[in-house]
Amino acid sequence: MKINYQETSRDLLTRIDIHEKYGSANIDQWTNDLLKPQAGMSILDVGCGAGKLCFLFNDYTKGGAKITGGDFSEELLDKAREKNKQLGTAIDFRFLDFNKPFKFADNTFDLCTSAFAIYYASNLDFTFGEAHRVLKPGGRLFVSGPLPENKKMFYDIIKEATNKPIPPMPGSSRFKGDIFNTISKIFAKTELHVFENSLTFPEVAPFMDYVRASLSEDRKLWTSMFNSHQEYEALIKKIEEVATRRFKRDGKLVMTKVVGGILATK
Ligand SMILES: C[S@@+](CC[C@H](N)C(=O)[O-])C[C@H]1O[C@@H](n2cnc3c(N)ncnc32)[C@H](O)[C@@H]1O
Repeated sequence: MKINYQETSRDLLTRIDIHEKYGSANIDQWTNDLLKPQAGMSILDVGCGAGKLCFLFNDYTKGGAKITGGDFSEELLDKAREKNKQLGTAIDFRFLDFNKPFKFADNTFDLCTSAFAIYYASNLDFTFGEAHRVLKPGGRLFVSGPLPENKKMFYDIIKEATNKPIPPMPGSSRFKGDIFNTISKIFAKTELHVFENSLTFPEVAPFMDYVRASLSEDRKLWTSMFNSHQEYEALIKKIEEVATRRFKRDGKLVMTKVVGGILATK
């Protein structure tokens, strides 16, 4: 399956910021509680983006783990490297395309993670086979991604505004089925954990910031809904009208992120 997907650092960082600002629960805490990364471990984060998980694990292990972050976006890697420099941390950020062989020897890592990324892989058997190969025996894989119940209110508003089907979101549609099944076929033990975070927007504006950072013309997942910048802006306007109607009715807008975490052991 070829997935046309491109993330920009501006949109990714906007969404992360909104999750943190308006959310009721903290995904970082959940991730650390689940994984408890330790000093001395070798950790690989695949599709690391601007390095969110890498910096989280670095903090948690007080700089004691050997952390590598890989992504195919040089723009996001540059952001991560800039922050690495600013903080004086020693995370190794490097190019990695998860549709190609990982450039690491067998049995290298204790933990391989991927947050909201690896499920975009074209060939799941291949990519999770690579993750398995580079893990040490007993090493763990952790993959997080949206479950089908994720952000129901957000999709409902877009459906009402457009009367069009939502384009397939490879994350939600594949996570519990294909992704879980592929991982459990390859790994010795696989379990699914669930994290819920309700984002309460006290105004329409930050919700619309989230909408723009999701549907953005650069992001390509949504381009079946518009053909030009004008159409994009018209779509955003319709979404804003529906969101404003709901906001007036309910006094707030609540969007619940429902995230799955697949934890597997080699
Ligand atoms: C939603 S972002 C998540 C980034 C980061 N893990 C986080 O939690 O902030 C998805 C990431 O997957 C990366 N990605 C998509 N396809 C990729 C590929 N084929 N190889 C490596 N990274 C890829 C994107 O560049 C982006 O950084």
